[in-house]
Amino acid sequence: MISRQINIRQASVCGRVVSSYIHPGRSIQPIRSLHESKKNEEDISRDASAKKYYGEDVEYGALSKAQKAFLDRVIRVDQAGELGANYIYMGQYAVLASKYPHLRPVLKHMWEQEIHHHNTFNALQTNRRVRPSLLTPLWKVGAVAIGAGTALISKEAAMACTVAVETVIGGHYNQQLRVLMNQYDVPIYDKKTGEKLSDDEITSEIEHSPELKELKDQISTFRDQELEHLDTALKHDAEKAVPYILLTEGIKLICRGAIWGAERI
Ligand SMILES: [Fe+2]
Ligand SMILES: [Fe+2]
Repeated sequence: MISRQINIRQASVCGRVVSSYIHPGRSIQPIRSLHESKKNEEDISRDASAKKYYGEDVEYGALSKAQKAFLDRVIRVDQAGELGANYIYMGQYAVLASKYPHLRPVLKHMWEQEIHHHNTFNALQTNRRVRPSLLTPLWKVGAVAIGAGTALISKEAAMACTVAVETVIGGHYNQQLRVLMNQYDVPIYDKKTGEKLSDDEITSEIEHSPELKELKDQISTFRDQELEHLDTALKHDAEKAVPYILLTEGIKLICRGAIWGAERI
């Protein structure tokens, strides 16, 4: 049978003559040399005996200057942003809580989460000795004005304000998480021997230092809560605000400007 026929041939691969077999209908597969087979066996046995590292077995190399500067910027802008959110809800609550009792628990829940976000970044700022944004007084006054101002227009306008703010903040947190996931490879060393770990030895459990992992986890939790606030605002008629597009696009622009300013000043 032709289909069962296997031809042994010699083929030239990368200038070397190696044995190969041809199975009709299939491409040429080089037969592994004895040396290659042995090497693979050695690799497999090395993998099997490779030490599994846990957090307590390793030490992390220092962050680069650029990585440190980015982290400082993250903490400064997030602290200013959460301060802003805290004061926006403060303004909304002051105007709407007594007028619309059914909104009181909704606003209070979101405001309390913002207070927690704000306190978390306050603590990070103190612990890492990051200087706060020099425009902090402006963020406070501006945020209360936006919160109370939109609430004075209508409860729907206040919710539209929340949609705009949370859309920008959610996107901003996602951007930070992308950088923290992709650009924070620092060398990792075996604590006992001082030897640098190879790529194969770095598992997802140890790839980030506990400090960086904690920051990433906090940002992703806060990002999820901001997106919940956005959903809550949509459920409470944000889109019925007049003029919705003008309000949301205007507030988004202000938020982006504030992020730009808080990162730098
Ligand atoms: Fe927040
Ligand atoms: Fe929020």
